[in-house]
Amino acid sequence: MAEQIKAVRGMRDILPEEVKIWQTVESIAFQTLEAFGFEEIRVPVVEELKLFQRSVGSFTDIVQKEMYVFKDKGNRILALRPEATASVVRAYLEHQLYTKRKITRLYYAGPMFRYDRPQKGRYRQFFQIGAEIFGGKSPYFDAELIVILAKIIEKLNVSNYVFETNSVGCDACKISYGIKLKQFLEPAKDRLCQDCQTRLQGNVLRVLDCKVISCREIIKEAPVIQDVLCDDCRKHQENFYTTLDDNKIHYKKNPYLVRGLDYYTKTVFELKIGEEENAVAGGGRYDNLVSELGGPETPAAGFAIGMDRLCALINLEVKRKKEICVIFLGQHALQKGTAILNSSRVDGIKIVADYEQRPLKNHLKIADREGVKHILILGDNELQKQIFLYKNMSNGSQKEIKFSELSKFFKEIDNA
Ligand code: HAM
Repeated sequence: MAEQIKAVRGMRDILPEEVKIWQTVESIAFQTLEAFGFEEIRVPVVEELKLFQRSVGSFTDIVQKEMYVFKDKGNRILALRPEATASVVRAYLEHQLYTKRKITRLYYAGPMFRYDRPQKGRYRQFFQIGAEIFGGKSPYFDAELIVILAKIIEKLNVSNYVFETNSVGCDACKISYGIKLKQFLEPAKDRLCQDCQTRLQGNVLRVLDCKVISCREIIKEAPVIQDVLCDDCRKHQENFYTTLDDNKIHYKKNPYLVRGLDYYTKTVFELKIGEEENAVAGGGRYDNLVSELGGPETPAAGFAIGMDRLCALINLEVKRKKEICVIFLGQHALQKGTAILNSSRVDGIKIVADYEQRPLKNHLKIADREGVKHILILGDNELQKQIFLYKNMSNGSQKEIKFSELSKFFKEIDNA
């Protein structure tokens, strides 16, 4: 037998049963976002590597360890996107979307790629639904993002969720906090992992995001950024929390939350469900990114939901669509019947034809095994009488359906 090729490590197939859940989640998320004025944008999966180096940050694990980087035939150094915020900002600038609306709300959905160690809830290709707001500096925008996430998650019947929140401050706050944190970490330097020892020299805040247990132990005692926030950042944070309270959002302050990407300023947040350690969604404000990528000063904020994680955690019953199976007995019935069937099909109703020739008994056995309840049969007799014979597999009843009334019959079955 020929060698079977398997999916690449860390990449997986989402099979039809699971896709039904994904489609339900997507449609709830898209409808919610549209209702808040977000419009969909589609950006490429491949970008220049430097876009991510300059946005996500050269000291982040994502850029240092997890990028899929390659040269194309034109010697361009490209990367599969590890996230889409950078691409959306690039597109926002490239198409000067800031000239069109004062506040621009965009959403997107698609696969992201990170060369991470595959494990439960962690894949090398994973799927995000994300949202970005450009042009608004008020904390109400940050709160709006959380309200949207809460609405989506509640529509999915999830109640055991919490938002972890923090402020990483503005550039000035980050610098003063960096100094304080470095002073605290220096004496414990030898107990930090190799990566954190390098981070100590490069971007010390990244130490807070380290997953190594010995580093986490040290971090537990670290000073918090809260103590060094400037007046503006402090006010922003207070207003943000008041708005969350007003909206009855369930949140928990996590003073060490910095997130794995460098572009954040002020508000950061993550959405957690149940006891799961992995965040289902994450986001925050990034007021400097647009200008750092060559655009005008533009405050911005956003989030991304990890679909793989969310869909694995929700308990969604997706109603199976009714299916009507049509079988043709004999070549003549098949020849004449398919056109009659196709001209009577009704949009949105699942009518599945089986063109294979087998004895009726076998057809019925297959329908039974596959849980199909409604069968239409066309043989030579039926063709002559210009009818399909309908068989209800649940109660064994039968009736004749005229060719001219086929569409009406499909609607009746679907509505029943
Ligand atoms: P992120 O936290 O890196 O943020 O990713 C968002 C979500 O994507 C995570 O909470 C998680 O559910 C999912 N995710 C990340 N990595 C993996 C993985 N290896 N396997 C499965 N799921 C994963 C961002 O990507 C930012 N762009 C979010 C954002 C938008 N911030 C502002 N705007």
